[in-house]
Amino acid sequence: MSAGERFYITTPIYYVNDSPHIGHAYTTLACDAFARFARLDGKKVWFLTGTDEHGQKVEKAAQAAGKDPQTFTDEVSQRFRRLADAMGFSHDDFIRTTEKRHYRAVQHLWNVLVEKGEIYLGKYAGWYSVRDEAFFDESEITDGKAPTGAPVEWVEEPSYFFRLSAWQDRLLQFYETNPDFILPPSRRNEVISFVKSNLRDLSVSRTTFKWGVPVPNDPDHVMYVWLDALTNYLTAVGYPDDTEAWRTFWPADVHVVGKDILRFHAIYWPAFLMAADLPPPRRVFAHGWWTNEGQKISKSVGNVIDPLQLIETFGLDQTRYFLLREVPFGADGDYSRAAMIRRMNADLANDYGNLGLRVLSFIQKNAGAAVPARGVLTAADHELLDAAAGLVARVRADMDVQAPHKALESIFAVIADANRWIDTQAPWTLRKTDPDRMNTVLWVLVETIRRIAILTQAFMPTASTKVLDQLAVPAERRLLVHVTDPGAALVPGTKLPKPEGVFPKWQEPA
Ligand code: ME8
Ligand code: MG
Repeated sequence: MSAGERFYITTPIYYVNDSPHIGHAYTTLACDAFARFARLDGKKVWFLTGTDEHGQKVEKAAQAAGKDPQTFTDEVSQRFRRLADAMGFSHDDFIRTTEKRHYRAVQHLWNVLVEKGEIYLGKYAGWYSVRDEAFFDESEITDGKAPTGAPVEWVEEPSYFFRLSAWQDRLLQFYETNPDFILPPSRRNEVISFVKSNLRDLSVSRTTFKWGVPVPNDPDHVMYVWLDALTNYLTAVGYPDDTEAWRTFWPADVHVVGKDILRFHAIYWPAFLMAADLPPPRRVFAHGWWTNEGQKISKSVGNVIDPLQLIETFGLDQTRYFLLREVPFGADGDYSRAAMIRRMNADLANDYGNLGLRVLSFIQKNAGAAVPARGVLTAADHELLDAAAGLVARVRADMDVQAPHKALESIFAVIADANRWIDTQAPWTLRKTDPDRMNTVLWVLVETIRRIAILTQAFMPTASTKVLDQLAVPAERRLLVHVTDPGAALVPGTKLPKPEGVFPKWQEPA
């Protein structure tokens, strides 16, 4: 799939029923890395996140807090914004479904679906889970619970329906012709068998509560929160207006979601869009679930991980690195303090941090505090430099399929090569025996670090910026094209500032 020169990526919009936790931070973090990488790759990027503020679940949370829903959502939405700031997320827009622009978009989409005969009035009688904001089939219920473990309640009310059943074959056809629409592939199979099993028409309005977008021309009904929520991806790029943003960015390149909400994104959403004659997104990527020290994260267990706490304890780039590297994106993962500290010390402090600090301190002391003379490169020199240059294509291929863990693995393999290379080349010996060769070795090393640091900007922006500053790399030469551009290579004689460690080792507090 070639995304062209623009890249539109979205996170789920999070329910404002509660404070953000590690799971929310994780999804947005991954999107942030993809967005940053695409920008480094010279693409025009739109990175969207936000909050999902309607529905029964949020209404109940507001009631429990003794607040009216608007006041309550204003407050909780702010917590998600603060998390985004603290995590250094580079989103271009933060959408709230209570905004006017969004009401306009959803009501427009509704009217289009009505005009096309895709929505009809009927009566819903069945099971509903407020926690999931989802309808469930009788066959899916065991012991009064949805497959998600959430309690369900019996609902009987007048309701508008979307003719989802009519879309079964066209959905299957769509998955067939777009084999990368759902990733990872295991999830794709899951969706396909669900669609094959039987699709019922979907209830898309409710009458027993008020906190939602009113159905046009029938104010007794509010829209089903998922129809409302999914439409945020259109609203943010200008729908229903034919704006430049709309023409540039729709269809989205990838909606990144947790596996819990794949059904909504991979079945309902493309059906709504095709029914409205709009192109579906290019991909939905479903990532896995985090547990805490082997346990399901839940408020009642009291083991919710606060991402702000993690950042404060271990550092922002350390937290970002851990979350993106520890678990293959798409698989379930377990947070453990020991694993966090292992990554922080072994990969960041000992490998990446130490590489920069060793080389730059040596240059300060023994090579005039400037980029050393390049001299004549040997085959071994080229090997290391080529390994670093080759990362661009490898990392790009990994990021194209949402595999940040693989991208980092490749980058850290070259970091390990560079560390080994220092030992085999032993510049401290060359200092006495062959100073010219020592300079060449050091040049190769700083040039390798430059290439690596350009790539790591997508994952660890703050530390990478510091490394590039320490190499005196001009701000306008920090894109992927500059990794291999001979004109962007480090220029011998350029003064280098005093180096500082960027990845401290974790010390257990006394
Ligand atoms: O579902 N591990 O919002 P939500 C990994 N509003 N990811 C996790 C996680 C965990 N333990 N817990 C949460 C909604 N997430 C809807 C979405 S989109 C149009 C509407 C992440 O607040 C993961 O991305 O319940 C999951 O899909 C999302 O938070 C659910 O957030
Ligand atoms: Mg949820």
